[in-house]
Amino acid sequence: MLDGSELTSLLYVSHSLVGDAGSVRQIVMASRLRNVRLGVTGALASVGDRFAQVLEGSRASIDELMRDISADPRHEKINVLFCRPIGQRDFARWALAYWSLASATPILARGAMDIAIAAADAGEADALYELIRGKSL
Ligand SMILES: Cc1cc2nc3c(=O)[nH]c(=O)nc-3n(C[C@H](O)[C@H](O)[C@H](O)COP(=O)(O)O)c2cc1C
Repeated sequence: MLDGSELTSLLYVSHSLVGDAGSVRQIVMASRLRNVRLGVTGALASVGDRFAQVLEGSRASIDELMRDISADPRHEKINVLFCRPIGQRDFARWALAYWSLASATPILARGAMDIAIAAADAGEADALYELIRGKSL
């Protein structure tokens, strides 16, 4: 299928340029409305100054969304780790699940996520994907 309807999953990491949790929550609230309209599901993790986001939906809606997300000045250095066809959604219940580990969160509590993001920076996406999925279930 190359008609844009193929169910697709995308994972990226980026560096946040918004300082406070309130601004991130605003992004999430607006995103949920638009994701519902687009039939997109997924999750956003905010960890210190990093974002990690999973998006799933038709290829066409993921492409459309990523054009805007990539141009959004509230983050930078967007690194798409994968964009691949899937058989079924992992985040079917979530227009956008959201969780946050602030910089002040004790290092032991953040450890797994920090390690997974570092691995993602190095091109290894699986641990990060599994953590996000596990937290969102
Ligand atoms: C880290 C991050 C994640 C985002 N995720 C989404 C998303 O899942 N869905 C969405 O519609 N917008 C998301 N946005 C916002 C988009 O970049 C864009 O501002 C928004 O889609 C524009 O919506 P509008 O055309 O309704 O104003 C995100 C922005 C950032 C910085």
